[in-house]
Amino acid sequence: MYLMSRRDVDAPRCAPAQAAHAAAAPPSYPRYTREEVGRHRSPKERIWVTHGTDVFDVTDFVELHPGGPDKILLAAGGALEPFWALYAVHGEPHVLELLRQYKVGELSPDEAPPAPNAQDPFAGDPPRHPGLRVNSQKPFNAEPPAELLAERFLTPNELFFTRNHLPVPAVEPGSYRLRVDGPGGRTLSLSLDELRNRFPKHEVTATLQCAGNRRSEMSRVRPVKGLSWDIGAISTARWGGARLRDVLLHAGFPEERGDEWHVCFEGLDADPGGAPYGASIPYGRALSPVADVLLAYEMNGTELPRDHGFPVRVVVPGVVGARSVKWLRRVTVSPAESPSHWQQNDYKGFSPCVDWDTVDYRTAPAIQELPVQSAVTQPRPGAAVPPGELTVKGYAWSGGGREVVRVDVSVDGGRTWNVARLAGDKAPLGRAWAWALWELTVPVTAGTELEIVCKAVDNSYNVQPDSVAPIWNLRGVLSNAWHRVRVSVQG
Ligand code: MTE
Repeated sequence: MYLMSRRDVDAPRCAPAQAAHAAAAPPSYPRYTREEVGRHRSPKERIWVTHGTDVFDVTDFVELHPGGPDKILLAAGGALEPFWALYAVHGEPHVLELLRQYKVGELSPDEAPPAPNAQDPFAGDPPRHPGLRVNSQKPFNAEPPAELLAERFLTPNELFFTRNHLPVPAVEPGSYRLRVDGPGGRTLSLSLDELRNRFPKHEVTATLQCAGNRRSEMSRVRPVKGLSWDIGAISTARWGGARLRDVLLHAGFPEERGDEWHVCFEGLDADPGGAPYGASIPYGRALSPVADVLLAYEMNGTELPRDHGFPVRVVVPGVVGARSVKWLRRVTVSPAESPSHWQQNDYKGFSPCVDWDTVDYRTAPAIQELPVQSAVTQPRPGAAVPPGELTVKGYAWSGGGREVVRVDVSVDGGRTWNVARLAGDKAPLGRAWAWALWELTVPVTAGTELEIVCKAVDNSYNVQPDSVAPIWNLRGVLSNAWHRVRVSVQG
């Protein structure tokens, strides 16, 4: 968020309380705990934020925030620093200067951090960005706020959606070994340095999307089992690592091995029964010179964060996120898919007529390439937007490297359509691994109600279905109907 007010540029603030402070000796401020600050998150309760040990009431500044009120509200009730870290402009001295005018207190110095609970298997999980929208704390599952989702082409690591099934493993990089079971019973064991140094580093910009993205819309039709993801179980990063293909060839596997073979991955995270998280992809994709499957050790130019698989994860571009196994410990090649629950009994799509009494997981293939998808990130549902011009923003992406060639946007529920402007570089044919961000500016009339709708078209002319009910499925996966956002235009 960008803290510079229009008012502030040419005129000092003239609130009587602040004016008095300026003239008098340094004021002594009341002390507040973080919990007390956390109660001030709405205009009714006033909007408080902290910076260092200072507490500020920024209620009167929210509408003046040059980055938009929605962005500053993300920090309401908490610290500004994690948000400022995302926007370099906040490092400028005038920003702190401005903030000082809103100071109302200081944090209590004697606040003790909560003691870690030794019994809690999640006690060793890493700290997370407070801006994430948490769907489940343990295991940790969270998505970036929609307001920030399509602000940048590459999602900052701290805001990248996180989908964990189990506690985050603590890995000591010096003792990390990746085991690759080679042909003829030979085993390749690679340290992190060997993975970095023995194989050329390859970089790929790829979007990962969870099969459950937009599940919350499916559960509005009929209840489904699963985390209630909004539109943010999707993010994009520049991944760096060794090609899986290079490592498998080095281990002695051939270029081709017939359709029925699979490359299986195991993570270091295991359930209480000792079963590791696992998944597999077809052998052909793993060995393909153009599928860009990585054993990634870098994300947006830094080592992988712990939540995203430190020190090594698989990245399978164009494929459901579930196959991009994090904290990778073992790679095997097998005539069968991974035996893991997440390959065999989950992340599969079914007809709307299948329920929990009739489901037979053996009858459906495991999800690999995902269907075409898009969503509106701005404005948010229920917003009251000013009349005049409205800018609608969002993302669009398709699985299997299929490029998004068009996004259609309607503001009248789908009666009339406009074509949005797509941003992003052209990818080689069949390798469009990253999302396209799009935007459209349309005139809107005061006092009207809008139903904004978007739908994307990929280069196979696949298009999203118009409604959710016909694609409803009991696990709430593959939710890719036209995205609809209702807003009102201020009178
Ligand atoms: N790998 C391991 N070892 N454990 C997991 O829980 N979750 C999977 C996949 N890889 C998972 C995993 C799922 S379902 C998704 S969508 C992606 O990781 C999410 O990756 P991210 O948390 O980096 O966004």
